[in-house]
Parts: sequence; C-alpha cells; structure tokens
Amino acid sequence: MDSSLTRLCCVLCLALFAEGNHDLFELSALVPRYAKLGETVVMKCNYTIPENQLYKVQWTKSGIKLFQYIRGRRTPFIYHNVPGAKIDWDLSSASKLALMEVQHDASGQYACQVTLESPIYSKTSEYRDLTVIQIQEIDPNITTSKQVFNVGDILDATCTSGPSKPVPEITWLVNGRKPPDTYMKPIVKPAVDSASAMRLTLPISDKLGAEVQLTCLSTIPGFISDQVGFLAYADYRSSAVIVSVAAKSEPVTAGCGKEFISIAAVVFTAIAAAFPT
Ligand SMILES: *[C@@H]1O[C@H](CO)[C@@H](O)[C@H](O)[C@H]1NC(C)=O
Ligand SMILES: *[C@@H]1O[C@H](CO)[C@@H](O)[C@H](O)[C@H]1NC(C)=O
Repeated sequence: MDSSLTRLCCVLCLALFAEGNHDLFELSALVPRYAKLGETVVMKCNYTIPENQLYKVQWTKSGIKLFQYIRGRRTPFIYHNVPGAKIDWDLSSASKLALMEVQHDASGQYACQVTLESPIYSKTSEYRDLTVIQIQEIDPNITTSKQVFNVGDILDATCTSGPSKPVPEITWLVNGRKPPDTYMKPIVKPAVDSASAMRLTLPISDKLGAEVQLTCLSTIPGFISDQVGFLAYADYRSSAVIVSVAAKSEPVTAGCGKEFISIAAVVFTAIAAAFPT
C-alpha cells in the first residue's frame, strides 16, 4: 500500500472507530429548571460508567468552560469561573457541580462532558436551561368595576402582580376554571414595575351562579393546568374575590324586556359554549 492509501485507511478506521463509540455510555445533565436568587443549585452529571474509567468531567455554560474534575490529580478540580455564582466545594464532586449564592447571571444553558481514560473518548450531554428567579413577595391585587352585577352586565376586573424577575404570568379563573383567552387581555404597562397585569372582561350570565369566584394566579412559569398544584410552579401567588350576581328581576316594559332577553340569550349562549360542562 502506498503511503497516501495507508493514510486514507487510517482516517477511515478512526472515523469508524469514533462512530462505533457513540454508545459507550449514556450521559445526561440533571439541572433544575429554576432556582431562587441566592440559593444553592446542585447539578448532576448522570453517566453510566464506573468512576475508575473516568478521565475527566467538565461542565460548560453556553459552550464556555466552568469547571473540570480530573481523576487522580492531587487537586482534582480545575475551576475556571462561574458567572453569577460561587462553587460550593463541599457539595461538588466528580459527578456534581454545586453553585451557591446564585444571581441572575447564573441563568443559562449548562452541559457536562465526560472523557474516558481508555479508549480516549468524550461525550457531551444536551444543554439544560437554568433560570434564576426573584420571586414575588406579595399576592396579586384584584380590582373589579363593581361588587354586584346583573345578568347581562360585563364584569371588568384587573389583576396586578407583585414585582418579580422574570415578570410572572397571570391567569384568571372564574369559579375555578380558566375562561376562554378572548376574555383576558394583558395590560402592556402595569402599575408596578417588573410586574404584570391582566384584565378580565366577562359577560355575566345566570349560569355563573349567585356568587362568582374570581381567582387570579400569578405564576412562573405561566399557567400549566387546572389540575396541577402550586408545587408545579417555581413561583406561585394567588388572590381571590367573590362578586355577586343580583337575582333576575322582571323587565319593566315589554319593549325593553324583549331586548333585554335577547341580549341575555346571546350572552347566555356564548357562556354556555365557553364553559362546556
Ligand atoms: C440517569 O441516566 C440513566 C441512563 O440513561 C437513566 O436511566 C436515569 O433515569 C437517569 N437518572 C435520572 C435521575 O434522570
Ligand atoms: C390594589 O390596587 C388598587 C388600585 O391600584 C389600590 O388602590 C390598592 O391600594 C391596592 N391594594 C393593595 C393591597 O395593594
């Protein structure tokens, strides 16, 4: 074989070898999706090889090296720099990176890379998002246009959250259920900085009952579902108010009454369609 052919063969062999090594072990980075400002965050590099086959475990944030563990070194950890956090050496190990006193700058995408001693082979996990949040310190504030409504009225209510970072997302529940999105409209400039606000415009039907419970959820991340508990959220605050619906009175004049009934019927149908039972 001439030398160029040999070289070509070697390149091919190496390529095949590297290809065949893709499944030498499984690897994933376990990173919490959210952390509260000032907390300690422990990230785990979940690999399926025994410790004695490891050469190196390395953590990166958005492609930039943060931390390396090299097995067998007298000082096995090489520390580069973690923006927005300090390393908690007591909780860090070959497979774990612990960040303490996390600040907003620590938000980002983290991944770990594992290198084997023999064969020399590296694999990098998928990136995982971490978001450091400043939680809300107060419950959301609900204001309503009135306390008592008649059937056919349009209820107008506004919910304003307390400040947080990122700003929370607001969802209204009417008698415990989410109304159609068309009844809810975000207020672009809320009264409080770093807060969010949402308006609810709801046609009052007698199907809602004599008392209507309006609940405002202010959450990070946004609304997940009616079924999940507050523990499913990184940050959760809620407030509720009850408004009354006056008993339907007989229309005073025939003409006015007819008009009233037809409007009520339209609203009634819309609500019935919106809240299927
Ligand atoms: C760690 O990785 C293994 C193998 O891929 C997987 O079965 C296991 O569920 C992972 N552990 C966690 C906590 O995700
Ligand atoms: C709720 O908002 C209203 C209107 O902006 C304000 O008058 C009221 O003081 C607020 N309530 C609380 C508890 O902050």
